[in-house]
Amino acid sequence: RRTQVAIIGSGPAGLLLGHLLKAEGIDCVLLERASREHVESRIRAGVLETVTTDLMKRLGLDERMNREALVEDGFNLADGDQMVRIDIKALTGKTVVVYGQTELTRDLIAAAPQRDLEIVFEAGDLVLHGVDSAHPKVTYAKDGAPVTLECDFIAGCDGFHGPSRRAIPQHLAREYIHEYPFGWLGILADVPPCHDELIYANGPRGFALASMRSPTRSRYYIQVPLTERIEDWPEDRLWDELELRFNGISQHGVTRGPALEMSIAPLRSYVFETMHYGRLFLAGDAAHIVPPTGAKGLNLAASDVLYLSDAIIAHYRRKDESALLGYRDRALARIWKSERFSWSLTRLMHSFPDQNAFERQMQVAEMDYLSRSPAMQTAIAENYVGLPV
Ligand code: FAD
Ligand code: DHB
Repeated sequence: RRTQVAIIGSGPAGLLLGHLLKAEGIDCVLLERASREHVESRIRAGVLETVTTDLMKRLGLDERMNREALVEDGFNLADGDQMVRIDIKALTGKTVVVYGQTELTRDLIAAAPQRDLEIVFEAGDLVLHGVDSAHPKVTYAKDGAPVTLECDFIAGCDGFHGPSRRAIPQHLAREYIHEYPFGWLGILADVPPCHDELIYANGPRGFALASMRSPTRSRYYIQVPLTERIEDWPEDRLWDELELRFNGISQHGVTRGPALEMSIAPLRSYVFETMHYGRLFLAGDAAHIVPPTGAKGLNLAASDVLYLSDAIIAHYRRKDESALLGYRDRALARIWKSERFSWSLTRLMHSFPDQNAFERQMQVAEMDYLSRSPAMQTAIAENYVGLPV
């Protein structure tokens, strides 16, 4: 079989790209290894920038989001019992919304049939072929039968562990890796949030984040050593820890409840600059990872896809190749700035195991400075709401 653009992966990057291309009459097929149930139940990011909500609006798929998302005018940075509110609306004129990645993904998958967007779930053994030739193709297995999909372009939207990045020859790969000596343990529960806005908190016991999905559903994270496993964290131990961190600084205090989900994710910064090779283009986590502090991961996937869809549309509409050739540099300019912000907020808000007393004083001084400086708060706010696309 044949299509114009083969899209590998149906996370936010692949789904948004598929809908954007389909809206312009460009033929594409999404190939996803996991089942629909699996994709729809993964709990991940929660904060959306305007770049992401604008794409949903452009697609006409923002109806449920407009109804259910919580608009955030500000968020809080705390160190111990000192808390600074960053008034993003006053400082930038913009806001962010809380709407789970899970909900965004569900909306995009639910709308696929009516837009004639084909998603092949449970596509196994996927391999990319001839990505540097004029006739690339993707082979995969569906219900045990081998399938070959010929195409003009391949969009690698298959996340950090997917095969697309690995289809680029090693000697051309330019990559940057920075690992952090901790992970985040997350919990989702149907209890009211402890505070009306998000709180990113540092302290002697490490980082903690109080977030939410709705007025009745909370999402919390705490920093844990990489050696720790989920079995080490019975729910009561985690709630005890969250009460210690947030009861002193939050408006309502922590409400405990049964966990709907708990998981540990390692923190890393990663950029694979070779985002374009022949007929293959990478977007989203396939090309870069940010630590979750600052909620940039999903929103970066959205800006990549905005640029890539523009470029593919220019190719088919006007035979204009310049946007495809410029995709990598255009995307990287925004990626590196989000990498910088996520790294810098991670460095400010976590307790590093090998941190010396001087480095701790640098965190204290930075918090004290930003608590008094509208200029510093503005710099944080404009990164948090998302840099221009
Ligand atoms: P993904 O969402 O990873 O989608 C890639 C898709 O490709 C998946 O559906 C996968 O099944 C599919 N795929 C992989 N291999 C193959 C294959 N061989 N064949 C076919 N399909 C394949 N960001 C935040 O801002 N805040 C958070 O709290 C946060 N938490 C996270 C927790 C975890 C555990 C992870 C992994 C990420 C988290 N992120 C978070 C980051 C954010 O979720 C990602 O940046 C976002 O999902 C990127 O979207 P994507 O579409 O590029 O990749
Ligand atoms: C959430 C995750 C983040 O990484 C973040 O910075 C803010 C909120 C969340 O899952 O709600």
